[in-house]
Amino acid sequence: MAEKLEIVVAADLDNGIGKDNSLPWRIPGDMKFFQSLTTGTTGEHKNAIIVGRKTWESIPEKRRPLKDRLNIILTKKAEIDAPEGVLVCNSLESALEKLQNIPHERCFIIGGAQIYKEALQHPHLDTIHLTRIMQEFDCDAHFPPIDDRFALAAVSDTMEENDIEYRFQRYVKKSSL
Ligand SMILES: NC(=O)c1ccc[n+]([C@@H]2O[C@H](COP(=O)([O-])OP(=O)(O)OC[C@H]3O[C@@H](n4cnc5c(N)ncnc54)[C@H](OP(=O)(O)O)[C@@H]3O)[C@@H](O)[C@H]2O)c1
Repeated sequence: MAEKLEIVVAADLDNGIGKDNSLPWRIPGDMKFFQSLTTGTTGEHKNAIIVGRKTWESIPEKRRPLKDRLNIILTKKAEIDAPEGVLVCNSLESALEKLQNIPHERCFIIGGAQIYKEALQHPHLDTIHLTRIMQEFDCDAHFPPIDDRFALAAVSDTMEENDIEYRFQRYVKKSSL
């Protein structure tokens, strides 16, 4: 069966997701949610995460690769430095092809803007886990609008941390419902 792809993203009210290659907010509850969602499995195999080279570089060195997950970096460069065990691929398709031969459970696209844009058009994209941040920040990277191929399947209560309100939303492709 074809691999189902899932996006995980946090976006403000203007769909802003980042500024100067970093996150413009600090929301520990969202970090915990991301960690738990992307590491959680029901069986023996890890989940895969696919990340753009710029977002990879924005992760502090001591926190990468993201532990307990198969890390895949997308870059067009011929070579980049990557720790042992991290896959480097030149396209989303080649990453998905490689994944066919690597036992894993789920596959999460974790950004940034360029990678989200491509993944949103991918026929196997099934779910978008969106943390909606209920403010507008000054962002230079944005998530595309979620179109009507997707339906809002779940929404959490609104939470607040560091004076920032946010809620978790899950969109699912209507054809999968
Ligand atoms: N709020 C959130 O949930 C969230 C999550 C993740 C990231 N972000 C934010 O997003 C921003 C970064 O986004 P970005 O768009 O600038 O960078 P990005 O998507 O993280 O990375 C872009 C790079 O990925 C590579 N790439 C893109 N498309 C590719 C393809 N089809 N095949 C192979 N490689 C490909 C290229 O690397 P090369 O240049 O090496 O060829 C490109 O320069 C930051 O502000 C970050 O904090 C936010």
